[in-house]
Amino acid sequence: CGVTVLLMKHRVKNSGEWGKVEALLKDFEEKCATPVEKLKQVADAMTVEMQAGLASEGGSKLKMLISYVDNLPTGDEKGLFYALDLGGTNFRVMRVQLGGKEKRIVKHEVKEVSIPQNVMTGSSSEVLFDFIATALAEFVATEGDDFHLPPGRQRELGFTFSFPVKQLSIASGTLIKWTKGFSIEDVVGQDVVGELAKAMERAGLDVRVAALVNDTVGTLAGGRYNNPDVIAAVILGTGTNAAYVERAHAIPKWHGLLPKSGEMVINMEWGNFRSSHLPVTEYDQNLDIESLNPGEQIYEKIISGMYLGEILRRVLCRMAEEASLFGDYVPSKLKVPFVLRTPDMAAMHHDESADLKVVGNKLKDILEVPNSTLKMRKIVVELCDIITSRGARLSAAGIVGILKKLGRDTFKDGEKQRSVIAVDGALFEHYTKFRNCLKETMKELLGDAADSTVIELSNDGSGVGAALLAASHSQYTDLEES
Ligand code: GLC
Repeated sequence: CGVTVLLMKHRVKNSGEWGKVEALLKDFEEKCATPVEKLKQVADAMTVEMQAGLASEGGSKLKMLISYVDNLPTGDEKGLFYALDLGGTNFRVMRVQLGGKEKRIVKHEVKEVSIPQNVMTGSSSEVLFDFIATALAEFVATEGDDFHLPPGRQRELGFTFSFPVKQLSIASGTLIKWTKGFSIEDVVGQDVVGELAKAMERAGLDVRVAALVNDTVGTLAGGRYNNPDVIAAVILGTGTNAAYVERAHAIPKWHGLLPKSGEMVINMEWGNFRSSHLPVTEYDQNLDIESLNPGEQIYEKIISGMYLGEILRRVLCRMAEEASLFGDYVPSKLKVPFVLRTPDMAAMHHDESADLKVVGNKLKDILEVPNSTLKMRKIVVELCDIITSRGARLSAAGIVGILKKLGRDTFKDGEKQRSVIAVDGALFEHYTKFRNCLKETMKELLGDAADSTVIELSNDGSGVGAALLAASHSQYTDLEES
């Protein structure tokens, strides 16, 4: 986890422009610094904001949304259930045949559909939900004989909708605001289950939405199904967020009946966390100002996959303009917002070849820089390291904030409580340096207690989790297959 960048390595005597490149690099590195003391402050601030968000509606930037999930899967769930997962540039439909304690997941099928840009922004609720319902109808039509729905039963679905939603019940809730590059104004304030139900009717599809969940909540449910020690879930993908199991009596703003389990899953919406302790640079500020949601999701904009590549582009652009990083011209592609995607950044960061060939090829293919020198490529890798380390280390601090809130960040009287955090999302799964840095930082922050904390990949937990929650909230109370 490269906190220190060895600037000296690249210092070239008597080169004025390189001096400027190095100065910009050093300045950026300093502003992104996340020493342990700072991370501890971030973790503490997270704990404080969690408390404030639980105390009253609007009490904090952290919404701490009540999910209405007061029981997590046990393994007894049985039957055929569908799941629909909307939250990134792709959405997925899935069917799962659950076989109870012994057979577990008997069979499951997934189909991924990419959402056209013109549907994601500037369309209408009807266009978005018709698009989804049509894809779902096509998928349902391909259900084979190896899936089994007892005669006379309606199909049921878990809807993973990965945006901030004010839940009204387990199967209804209104969209508070869009995040992650979605913007369809007339959905804000609407019950998204109602909108989906209307679209399904238009598509001639008879499916009941049994559970509406955030992807973090789905991941928590899927994680718990596989491991009873899972207490929280984190998404590190296009966006970032966390959910965890809270004691119901520690939620002052909850005025409903106390659940039998005494627990309630909270969707933190931690992407909207902000604190004076966060290392925010002018590049982040400009990115925010020019984004679809200025002033919002600040933590998400420093950490998540949608933004890391864009931060890199912004720094490179400035270095090209002010310090001739790529010679005496500024590649025009560098001025195109979001042209550098985080997967490309990861590929460059992971380049281990002596001449940084992958970096060279990416610079050529994406930014149209035909002949990059090794020196230029090294700068790019160093920037990747600074940006990614900052994101990974701040995510670790957020997780420690949750552990603190639950009193699981230290050993209590020698007692070892195992805490498993289920993590999903492409950033964590595919960006190895990000993942490793996050795990190392957990050790730095927790010391001995790190031994009893496990960060576990819960691949596709959210889809299966939504199906499991649909099963436990089915209208049919006999979970037996007939
Ligand atoms: C954004 C959404 C949040 C979601 C996260 C990860 O932060 O607001 O609901 O969980 O992205 O997909």
